[in-house]
Amino acid sequence: MVPATMWRLCRWRLLVRAAQRGYREARGPQLLTTPIFYVNAAPHLGHVYSALLADVQHRHAALCGRNTRLSTGTDEHGIKVQQAASTVGSDPSDFCAAVSQQFRMMFDTMAISYTDFVRTTEHRHAQAVCHFWKKLEEEGYIYKGTYQGWYCTSDEAFLSEDQTVESRDVDGNKIRVSADSGHQVHWMSEENYMFRLSQLRPKLLDWLQTEPIHPAPFLRIVRQWLEEELPDLSVSRQRNRVSWGIPVPSDPSHTIYVWLDALINYLTVAGYPDQNMASWGPSTHLLGKDILRFHAIYWPAFLLAAGLPPPNKLLVHSHWTCNGVKMSKSLQNVVDPTECIKQYTRDGLRYFLLRHGSPERDCDFTHHTVRKLLNSELADALGGLLNRCTARTINPGQCWPYYQINSVPPAAHSELQRLLGAVQELPRLVDQYMTRFQANKALEAIDSSVRCSNAFFQSQAPWKLSKGEEKDKAWGQCVLYITLESLRLYATLLQPAVPGLAKTILDRLGVPDMYRTLKGNHFFAATLGENCSFQGQTLGTECGLLYPRLEADKE
Ligand code: MSP
Repeated sequence: MVPATMWRLCRWRLLVRAAQRGYREARGPQLLTTPIFYVNAAPHLGHVYSALLADVQHRHAALCGRNTRLSTGTDEHGIKVQQAASTVGSDPSDFCAAVSQQFRMMFDTMAISYTDFVRTTEHRHAQAVCHFWKKLEEEGYIYKGTYQGWYCTSDEAFLSEDQTVESRDVDGNKIRVSADSGHQVHWMSEENYMFRLSQLRPKLLDWLQTEPIHPAPFLRIVRQWLEEELPDLSVSRQRNRVSWGIPVPSDPSHTIYVWLDALINYLTVAGYPDQNMASWGPSTHLLGKDILRFHAIYWPAFLLAAGLPPPNKLLVHSHWTCNGVKMSKSLQNVVDPTECIKQYTRDGLRYFLLRHGSPERDCDFTHHTVRKLLNSELADALGGLLNRCTARTINPGQCWPYYQINSVPPAAHSELQRLLGAVQELPRLVDQYMTRFQANKALEAIDSSVRCSNAFFQSQAPWKLSKGEEKDKAWGQCVLYITLESLRLYATLLQPAVPGLAKTILDRLGVPDMYRTLKGNHFFAATLGENCSFQGQTLGTECGLLYPRLEADKE
């Protein structure tokens, strides 16, 4: 093998290994990213879902004492935004600033805990894009050629013939549309800068061997795509057609393709082109399935071509639909998150989206489903448990009772062991689900434990025990301790999903801040005869109903 080829091969292997090592060995924090959002229209529920899934991963990592950063932002260049601004007669930069601010405000309202918000119109981003482009040129991956084919402006995507199908517009005229998104495509033929994507197919296949895409069905889809030849990709548009974008550094008559520009945002937030991008190797991108091809083929290919490690993980989610059709601004079937927050509260909406949505399959949004789920799980089950163990009738002293190991009656032994066994397993189970990108299953597991605690409380009936003999009273105190301790655990685990409601519970239980993480926090210590610092402590102030039941006529 010639030395140059050997060197390229070695460098490639090192890059893949760096990605495989992931954040286990990383020096810096893990970088989690949301897609950056097009500013051609206001945020809708689907956008909020993408950001929320990333937020819950970020908050859960922090809860476990892991070091992560979360970036989000807005995708502001390209023909689609250029057209949206001109339709409303606005200057593109004013238009972008206004809509970007709407996204930022929506994410603040939804308590998305981003640590960086990037806009592709920022100077730091333009610098990163220009540096990256030059690197691709230096490495020999860019050449000038003629692109001929279909272009979908709505998706800002170049499509091959078999990615398009014939359809009809509203007036019955024949048109061609993208087979995936249903958006109209147009024939395009122009001299562009091309990227040698075809050369990177073997390396992409190697990268896929590290199984970086979750859930698994999406990994299979990408493998299938790669079974076919990969044509080179057009990475510029003539400036007279697309003027709203970053010019090609060596040729200002061309604008850099908006997807190349947008994907580089992940490097911008990592500090590129500074060589100390400590958080780059362990990057995890969260994205909807409609933009899988861009993240699972183009992005790793661009990175590898520029001599950088491909992403460590891609976490892919499915879509929210309305009557079975993908929610999308262009189809005018979007659900407004602001309206939902008014009806269900921020945490109500967060809980519903995370608990009912599933990364693996599309979910239909109906107000009936939201109400049913929130009434059952937040108002009745969780709110009921809080009410039970803190009500003055049951806990007149308003404090954490003492647990006496020898007061467990033989008849209650097996039920108690079953409950403790399940509840003590819960933090590990929740962490496992979160690591597998299954927040919905994590919340399901918590809900089912909440129900077990309610059933235990009901069957042991501490309100009756308090009227019995001394030994019954002692056992009644134990039941109360176990219920309060279970609730402390559930609220701790629920913080990433419903930070406000979890805080209400932890405040009511009088839990100090240092006991609100999972790292170094012990639960049920008194049942093992160990010291539990809560025993004898007073509860916090009363908080009223945790989550009032939603009425049917709100729809
Ligand atoms: N700008 C590109 C992403 C560039 S990332 C380098 C883009 N923007 S988008 O605003 O159209 O979509 C942003 C995210 O919202 C994507 O993850 C997309 O899947 C998600 N959603 C948009 N509609 C959705 C639903 N109806 N349901 C769930 N998520 C959906 O694509």
